[in-house]
Amino acid sequence: MFSAMAVLLATFIFIACSPLAPVTPSPTKGVPVTPFPPASTKGSASPSSLAGNISGEDAYRLVQALAVKVGSRPAGSEAVKEASIYIAQQFQDGGYQVQKQGFSFRQYLDEGAEATVLSSPPKELHPNTLFYSLGGEGEGEVVAAGIGEDKDTQGVKGKIALVERGVLRFSEKVENAARAGAVAVIVYNNQAGNFRGSLGSLSRIPAVALSQEEGEALLSALGQSPVRVRLVVKGHIQEGEGLNVIAKKDVTKPCRWLLGAHYDSVAAGPGANDNASGVAVVLEVARRAAFAPWASGLCFVAFDVEELGLFGSRHYVDSLSPRERQAMEVMVNLDMVGVGDSWGLAGTSEMVALGQAVAEEWRVAAQEFRLAPELSSDHASFQAASIPVLFIHLREDPRYHTAEDKAEYVRPEHLQTAGRIALGVVERLAQGGSRQ
Ligand code: BES
Ligand code: ZN
Repeated sequence: MFSAMAVLLATFIFIACSPLAPVTPSPTKGVPVTPFPPASTKGSASPSSLAGNISGEDAYRLVQALAVKVGSRPAGSEAVKEASIYIAQQFQDGGYQVQKQGFSFRQYLDEGAEATVLSSPPKELHPNTLFYSLGGEGEGEVVAAGIGEDKDTQGVKGKIALVERGVLRFSEKVENAARAGAVAVIVYNNQAGNFRGSLGSLSRIPAVALSQEEGEALLSALGQSPVRVRLVVKGHIQEGEGLNVIAKKDVTKPCRWLLGAHYDSVAAGPGANDNASGVAVVLEVARRAAFAPWASGLCFVAFDVEELGLFGSRHYVDSLSPRERQAMEVMVNLDMVGVGDSWGLAGTSEMVALGQAVAEEWRVAAQEFRLAPELSSDHASFQAASIPVLFIHLREDPRYHTAEDKAEYVRPEHLQTAGRIALGVVERLAQGGSRQ
């Protein structure tokens, strides 16, 4: 019999928790940066003044602070908390009011699946967990259940239902089998090889995917004599807490222009380019823009829990009132801006065009690009809420999401370019804007 290991959690709603809380001051730690006021405009090749002050070297020191001193910053870790304190302090030192926005998140953690044929001849199979499968382990007799329609699942009570992929959703197949009393479901592929799939929400019984080859072999074996299989699904819902760091000159004013970057990293490495680089540029732009006459309309957010599914930015967008959303003219997202040789801009076409015009001022060729469909970043949360976005990104980083994503590969001059584009865009909007 199957014993459910995972906690049964029926819904996957992100729970909003603590409201915006002011940051508690902590002693400055980490790397010194050059003090205010912003340095000279020396070296400025552009008429847009503040962008000319962006220092790649200052930004690079922030990359070192986050990626070397703090190191890997996976969501929920002590390190990510340490990074949030450091970032908040930097904003405060730059003359900003800082709010920390807490939120909880839930995600499905797949730690693999196993399937073993116990009856003769015994055999190890190679299943994939169907995402959102209930975790569990146990054994049972396998029974063929067509494609998993109601009429196919009559004889599955107390058994493992073997169903073919296709026609119905995975969740429908699994729910039909569960309703008919199956203890688990194996969905085998209707084309060569195995596959990965998702049930959308936590299932009532364990469910795995199998290759067409292994599925059809099982099917023909159980036509001869009973087949018993032991199944293990190591999957469960993981819950955690995240923290966005928000900086404004005046918390009572709505944000017209928002610069953001995620500060969490994958566990595999120190996340220097992904995305200490983006955070460093956001902090450097904040420092240089703090005393602009239009600074009260400019906001900055360092997002948490991006790497597990854009949780921080989604929470931030969800927390905005309709008026606040309306007031936001652009969200500029900086993600991976320190490694590569080709500048890419994505997002709302007017913003991409503006970004390209600013880049040209700095003699930088920036191409409009589309992020591969399997990749995403925080601007997507704003885009989904119809807020204009500009994604600034440098391509391509061969060490992305590896232990080698180190500060030594991040180039200060790239950070400077990213900062010039980001601040240049804001300056143009601020100067051309009609709302005060
Ligand atoms: N920085 C990456 C996204 C990225 C990768 C942009 C390569 C451009 C080029 C980001 O941190 C990331 O890995 N995002 C996840 C998001 C997902 C979990 C929703 C991704 O793309 O897999
Ligand atoms: Zn990233």
